[in-house]
Amino acid sequence: MTDTLTIRRPDDWHLHFRDGVMMRDVLPYTARRFARAIVMPNLTPPVTTAELGAAYRERIMSAVPDGVTFAPLMTCYLTDNTNPDDLARGHAEGVFTAAKLYPAGATTNSDNGVTDVRKLDPVLARMETHGIVLCVHGEVTDHDIDVFDREAEFIERHLRRITSEFPKLKIVFEHITTSDAVNFVLDCGPNVGATITPQHLHINRNAMLVGGIQPHNYCLPVAKRETHRLALRKAATSGNAKFFLGTDSAPHERHTKESACGCAGIFNAPFALESYLQVFEEEGALDKFEAFASLNGPAFYGLPANEDTITLERVDVSVPDELKAGGSVIVPFHAGQRLGWRIVD
Ligand code: DOR
Ligand code: ZN
Repeated sequence: MTDTLTIRRPDDWHLHFRDGVMMRDVLPYTARRFARAIVMPNLTPPVTTAELGAAYRERIMSAVPDGVTFAPLMTCYLTDNTNPDDLARGHAEGVFTAAKLYPAGATTNSDNGVTDVRKLDPVLARMETHGIVLCVHGEVTDHDIDVFDREAEFIERHLRRITSEFPKLKIVFEHITTSDAVNFVLDCGPNVGATITPQHLHINRNAMLVGGIQPHNYCLPVAKRETHRLALRKAATSGNAKFFLGTDSAPHERHTKESACGCAGIFNAPFALESYLQVFEEEGALDKFEAFASLNGPAFYGLPANEDTITLERVDVSVPDELKAGGSVIVPFHAGQRLGWRIVD
């Protein structure tokens, strides 16, 4: 039985750092383990221009602890008014690695998102030509669509059309939660991939709704029924190059989640690797972990894999009930539980 596992240093292809004090407090959890992260732009106000992206990157870099090497990969928040020239310039100048499509109202800080996906076509055309990756929060927002069906509906209404009208556009279908999404991505060409979070590999919707409402298991897209979780586990642990690590770690202060109108988002950064690795072990797929965590993402983005390595050993770790951050406390994913691997520092 393998008791240690050494892999190339991983990257996180979907992450929320926030800003200010919160960013300073949560950033080390990611930067000490991951070499790079695709940083989400849903700040208030959102990161909508190359100038804002460059300034946010500076703020992130100034929060990286001494002696730690870490590179934030910035994303541009797409709106109804995104200027394709500014986006293309931001990409050419190395500010933006990708652009993020939030349907307006789909999730936290998405109010400035896109109100009609079709209106984005000129921007998508430019992205296709320039090889700019489109990261998609794939949920429709229509009130008549059940929240558990919103991802599947987004595929039918938008992704099928986008992939057929922009066949070379690189698309990351983010934080997928359904077998519908797995199958859709598998049916597309190599220019369409997907990130999978730790929580969607560990929990189904019961974890949110059974035994009293569990706000710390609430994120968007919401966890679905068990068949979907099993399809995600199969995809993630398959070694298929289309699927890669993206935590969607999203810090919210404890009181904003334990509230009459609780925020969506799960803070998993402190034990993300240990959490994923537990899944790979349970699935008998430790040999596929490096592909998912460290190889498939860079290959999709056309970047080199990291040269340095990270070692994990089979030793139990206890996840604390809460962590201090942003002048407040956050309840991390797996709070109060034990995980079977730890990182060798
Ligand atoms: O649960 C979520 N939280 N889903 C998202 O898409 C956004 C994120 C956040 O920013 O808190
Ligand atoms: Zn996210």
